[in-house]
Amino acid sequence: MLRPIAAALLALALTGPAAAQYVDPDVTAAPMGSVPAVPETERAPALTPDQESTRASTGGAPTLTDILRRQKGLPVDDSDRRADTAFQDDDLATGAMGPQGNFSDAQMWRALRYDSADITTVNNGPAATTVIQDGGMTWLNWRSGPLRIFAGIALLGSLALLIAFYLFRGRMRLDHPPTGRRIVRFEAFERFGHWLLATSFIILAVTGLLSLFGRLFFIPLFGKQAFAPVAGAAKWTHDNISWAFMISLVLIFVFWVRNNLPDRTDLTWLKRAGGMFGGGHPPAKKFNAGQKLIFWAVIVFGTTISLSGLSLLFPFELNLFGKTFGFINDTGILQALNLPALPGDLSPQAEMALSQIWHATMSIILTAIIFFHIYLGTVGMEGAFDAMGKGDVDEEWAREHHNLWLQKVAAEKPEKIKEYRA
Ligand code: HEM
Repeated sequence: MLRPIAAALLALALTGPAAAQYVDPDVTAAPMGSVPAVPETERAPALTPDQESTRASTGGAPTLTDILRRQKGLPVDDSDRRADTAFQDDDLATGAMGPQGNFSDAQMWRALRYDSADITTVNNGPAATTVIQDGGMTWLNWRSGPLRIFAGIALLGSLALLIAFYLFRGRMRLDHPPTGRRIVRFEAFERFGHWLLATSFIILAVTGLLSLFGRLFFIPLFGKQAFAPVAGAAKWTHDNISWAFMISLVLIFVFWVRNNLPDRTDLTWLKRAGGMFGGGHPPAKKFNAGQKLIFWAVIVFGTTISLSGLSLLFPFELNLFGKTFGFINDTGILQALNLPALPGDLSPQAEMALSQIWHATMSIILTAIIFFHIYLGTVGMEGAFDAMGKGDVDEEWAREHHNLWLQKVAAEKPEKIKEYRA
């Protein structure tokens, strides 16, 4: 008699699995697809905060809240399991014997899961002994979500700003007609350094953006077959052109650092926003304060982009983030600001993921800055392009934009001032 009753109860239990679904009031679960919504009255009671924090309800295993939080990329307190991964000396004293002697299966899997297992692999690469790590999805979500949104807003936003500025202000023209006398502004070696930097940067920006956005726009249009060789070529070009960028970054630093050190003329220039307020042209030496800002942005962003790029080019060899985070933690700044410590002990894969996000973010910021520079060097200001194109500028242009530099050249190197050159 008991058997049919038990069978009926089991059948009932199996037909209503949805009733066992737990809905956490704080964590919205991922879309449930075709599973019908569970009526309020049939839902299992929510776990109390006590059950969640002590995990008494799961015997120490992850709670449903943990799983839902992990799915959403939120932090999960797994310190208990992280610590309980290995054979402990005191297990010997208690004599507790598991299926594998003093080391249990669960402990072994936890050690693999948290990258603390002492394992040997055939491949001896730096990341080979990390067999499980769960940062991959977080990285992928960042790369295909916030990073793309940030890139779109930063690049399209700065282009929109420039178009609006052009429509409002128009081209900055000379106040007086050109004199016909030309002054050498950049020697051939300086122009070589600049154009190597500019062309390599533009190629890197295009191929970099292609790898960030390419699959989003090109695969739907041309298909995967067509996009694959394009993506491969873009990656090859990006990896190899990076050397030209790094070399030219060193070149322009050496050529121009002396002329880009800040001084008092910069304060006046900045206060008058380069002449936008108060009219006229504030005095400037070879480079005005705006150009100095561009120069230092190129040097600082270019260096950090190069370092993170090298770490991506030679995977797992140049781990920048764990060390930097450890250094920041040691300064005590975070404690003073009541902020949590940064993770100093990162898996090799997490290092690579952070390098990628950092590299892309810094490159996008520098590209947006360079849009402003290219605008001013071309359509934005009359006569500016000649400085880098031909290497010389009209005396009137020099008087209006860099009067202190003109006075210095006239006094110290008059041979650099020539009659009109076509
Ligand atoms: C088509 C692209 C570009 C054009 C037309 C252009 C144009 C110019 C011009 C005309 C100057 C001289 C300004 C003067 O005489 O005062 C200059 C300087 C400079 N350029 Fe470019 N440039 C381009 C791309 C780049 C790129 C991609 C970078 C860096 C990644 C760069 C970095 C610099 C720096 C650091 C200077 C010196 C400081 C300054 O004038 O702002 N340029 N550029």
